[in-house]
Amino acid sequence: MPFDHVPSHDPDDVAANPSGNRTLGEVVASRRSVLRGSTVAAAGFLAGGGLLAGAGAAGAQGEDKGRGRPGGKPSALLGFAAVATSDQDRLVVPPGYTADILVPWGTPLSSRGPAWRKDASNSAADQARQVGMNHDGMHFFPTGRGSERDRRGVLVVNHEYVDQALLFPDGPAVMTREKVDKALAAHGVTVVEVAEERGRWKAVDSRLNRRVTGATPVRFSGPVGDGHPALAARGPARGTLNNCSNGATPWGTYLACEENWNSYFATDDATWTPSPEQARYGVDKVGSGYNWHKADPRFDIAADPNEANRFGWVVEIDPFDPRSTPVKRTALGRVKHEGATVTESRGRVVVYTGDDQDKEYVYKFVGDASWRSLRARGESPLDHGTLHVAKFEADGSGRWLPLVFGTGPLTAANGWRDQADVLLRTRQAADAVGATPLDRPEWIAVHPRSKDVFVTLTNGSGGGPVGPRTPNPYGQIVRWREDRGDNTALTFRWDIFLLAGDPKYDAKVTLPEDRIFGSPDGLAVDDDGRLWIQTDISNSSQNQAGKGYDRIGNNQMLAADPSTGEVRRFLTGPRGCEITGITFTPDHRTMFVNIQHPGESTTVWGAPSPADPRAVSNWPDFDPAGRPRSATVVIRKRDGGVIGT
Ligand code: FEO
Ligand code: CA
Ligand code: CA
Ligand code: CA
Repeated sequence: MPFDHVPSHDPDDVAANPSGNRTLGEVVASRRSVLRGSTVAAAGFLAGGGLLAGAGAAGAQGEDKGRGRPGGKPSALLGFAAVATSDQDRLVVPPGYTADILVPWGTPLSSRGPAWRKDASNSAADQARQVGMNHDGMHFFPTGRGSERDRRGVLVVNHEYVDQALLFPDGPAVMTREKVDKALAAHGVTVVEVAEERGRWKAVDSRLNRRVTGATPVRFSGPVGDGHPALAARGPARGTLNNCSNGATPWGTYLACEENWNSYFATDDATWTPSPEQARYGVDKVGSGYNWHKADPRFDIAADPNEANRFGWVVEIDPFDPRSTPVKRTALGRVKHEGATVTESRGRVVVYTGDDQDKEYVYKFVGDASWRSLRARGESPLDHGTLHVAKFEADGSGRWLPLVFGTGPLTAANGWRDQADVLLRTRQAADAVGATPLDRPEWIAVHPRSKDVFVTLTNGSGGGPVGPRTPNPYGQIVRWREDRGDNTALTFRWDIFLLAGDPKYDAKVTLPEDRIFGSPDGLAVDDDGRLWIQTDISNSSQNQAGKGYDRIGNNQMLAADPSTGEVRRFLTGPRGCEITGITFTPDHRTMFVNIQHPGESTTVWGAPSPADPRAVSNWPDFDPAGRPRSATVVIRKRDGGVIGT
């Protein structure tokens, strides 16, 4: 279906990378020929003695001893009973677990705030005082003291995009300024204090509660800072959009990432054509069909081209200061940031970020100096460091290539003006240095002990003759270890941790029949070392045989043991949703997960409409006159135990 109804991620399945750089698939293919017939498959390196030492990366550090193959010998880390695949309109968790709904779309941020109206008739002003739509990445910052840390905290939640068929009573057919304003208010970030009271988590009235939306004033810092000419557009700088995944800094701030920001810009000016820079980011005449440009010139790319330069950044928000202005940290580059995963090494901050589009790259920012000393001087550790991009070599090694003006090909002779130019055109800088194109890099997670790094490559065109497969409808999880286990290092060793899919359609997949999944997206490693995997199969593939997804069911969440490769399904979601966002209380006895876009248009179940917003799903309210809404789900064990045990 054209994108006149439900904005979709599907355009980002299409590559916009003209560089010709060697893809990961081609690297794998060439490595396979180097290895002469050794099998590159799910956990093949891991079980068969891979390129990382010992029985997998963690095993090399003397912990998480390898025990077998995916689905083989039960892992001591995974204590729950696996759930089956599901195509039902409900949320399923393992026996012994509970799942409660928290802060669905439209929840007022104050007990005196505007109540959610199930016919979608809340105004833009109402929406700005309510939880946004399409919950995505999130983080729990404890606010309670002592043992109350596990029972009270600020939940910060991204709202990735809006489904205009469900957001407006009359759907998206006619666009008005009020509708644009409501859509902007439903985007951005929610900061809401939550607490467990009498056994249930609830939003509470708090001075910390706030919304950051597509209209909130913002600042820029780093090389493309406030006042940079490329940021000079018609109005003051405001808003963050398409906040997908996230990060949290050691100094207690939240990072919201701007992913498919290009989708909001469009024009009816037939004479307009994109510049090479705009084309490299997928900016075109139609965007994803939001049609905001018809009612608000801010989003008319021909009328106000620099407005788009204000997007594509990582945004730092202080959840403990409700009056603080969000800051776009430009030293982290301008791409379609999926997330910004923060770790530290030798006192320096390290931020990993994937650029989610087919044949795009993985980046790493390394701080110049100790983050504590920078903070002590009143400087942001995110303003002082070097951005790098990953190059994966065929021999299982890899390098981080600096994106620094004057270094390598990024010179004035080659048309680069300065570091701000390199960052504004991060994708093109990465093309120039020879980065490795990947199958849609999504979330990145760092193991708390081994410091191994995992990235979900959700799906894509593959690249090489083997691939791991061409095209790649199911995705894989790639793992690397930085040299010396030092996340600031500029060289690493990598392998394919897990090849997702259904062995019925792809013999390379070694997942047992009862553990199949595809399109991994959300990813986190908990304090015990469980790797949590959340899926985002597109609604045009879900539950369809022709797409190889008929046996995989609705989107789901699984846990894996990084040392054994065992995978076990933990949760299945309602119809039309993806599973995303993951955070824990410090004791890991409460897990928060997001159910995004239940009831969105799907190929198998049809599309919601003003006449029937419940056509696909009516989760979680199941109100016969209501509509589906994204929500956070609070997951606990009935026995009060650690989640996953
Ligand atoms: Fe917003 Fe790449 O998922
Ligand atoms: Ca995602
Ligand atoms: Ca995704
Ligand atoms: Ca999605």
